[in-house]
Amino acid sequence: MSEIYKIIKKKKLDIVNKPIDQAHGLPNECYTSKEYTLIERKKLFEDKWTVIGTSSSLPKAGDIKPFDLLGLPLLIIRNKKNKIKVFHNVCSHRGVKLVTEAGNIRNVIRCPYHSWSYTSDGELVATPHIGGMNKHQTPKFDKSNSKLKEVKSYVWLDLIIVNISDNEIPFEEYIKPLDKRWSKFWNIKDRKLINHANDFGYFKLKAKCNWKFAIENYCESYHLPWVHPSLNEYSKIDDHYHIQGLPNRFAGQGTTNYNPKFKGKKKFPSFPNWPKNKENIAEYVALFPNVMLGIHKDHYYAYWLEPVDHENTLEHMEIYYVGEIAAKSDKFYHLRKQNHKLWEDIQKEDVDIIQRMQIGRNSNAYNGGNFSPDMDNPTHQFHKWVAKNIV
Ligand code: FES
Ligand SMILES: [Fe+2]
Repeated sequence: MSEIYKIIKKKKLDIVNKPIDQAHGLPNECYTSKEYTLIERKKLFEDKWTVIGTSSSLPKAGDIKPFDLLGLPLLIIRNKKNKIKVFHNVCSHRGVKLVTEAGNIRNVIRCPYHSWSYTSDGELVATPHIGGMNKHQTPKFDKSNSKLKEVKSYVWLDLIIVNISDNEIPFEEYIKPLDKRWSKFWNIKDRKLINHANDFGYFKLKAKCNWKFAIENYCESYHLPWVHPSLNEYSKIDDHYHIQGLPNRFAGQGTTNYNPKFKGKKKFPSFPNWPKNKENIAEYVALFPNVMLGIHKDHYYAYWLEPVDHENTLEHMEIYYVGEIAAKSDKFYHLRKQNHKLWEDIQKEDVDIIQRMQIGRNSNAYNGGNFSPDMDNPTHQFHKWVAKNIV
């Protein structure tokens, strides 16, 4: 066990778990140490259900996409039967990283080193000259033992979610508490209507900070009046309520006054079963470790984090509308454009402030900080989730 892990574990995590009025936040090392982040990779990402992409970004059979999780090379494939699969992106021969760019395989995935080739289901099907020149098979080598190593994966609301260590409960079970909470807004049929917009359905932001700041900031609405003055015009700080999932897997906040002002008279269609008396409610929930979700009567988004290292994060925003017409037709083009801009402007405001939190963590005088006992409860819940799972 590394020294840094011992230091963090012994002295500084217990205090995170204290009642909120006595607790401190996670210690600085959790944000500034490269070594610590590798422990997080195992405990908070590989051992948990982690988002690594979206199914709609691989629309055709044979589409492939590499994804590196803090240096761990993974490969997402839509196989010939149209199913999303995830593998370790490493050749079973001499360990070359197999795929470096997104694309479509017409036939097989061929390793660039000695041309061993794999199907979209990870079967090893070609091993040129393995038994000496022009001998492409040998009794000494059984191909069926050298498949690509598959990773347990699940597609939920278009998100590709993996449990790399294969140790967690099934995702259908894992997500039940949040599913139950949200069943008062939308049902299974409504969820099937979500449709990713091709034109204004995505943006990516680079945040020069640790990934955890994005989650802890998302959990609270305390910062709203100062960081998001335009959002605060229609959805004020006192319109918000806390969300703290049990068991502790998600936290966030909701508003009772979702009512954005867009130019023009058009309105997006709503989810058919969204109750009339809940039209102005929207909920913003961080599902730990790395995705921030937003549900509204007329759109849904998933804002997922790609941790690059301890101080760099990529934020991927995926926006969905109710049905194909709302998501893809010209009729709603201008509305989609405005909604995209609204979210991008808001998220940029957050990035500015969380980058400054990263700088603050270089101060030895800072002990993880104090929480507001009334405003920071969901953020404290996330800190507790980290403190519990990192040991
Ligand atoms: S390392 Fe892939 S074929 Fe040799
Ligand atoms: Fe914010």
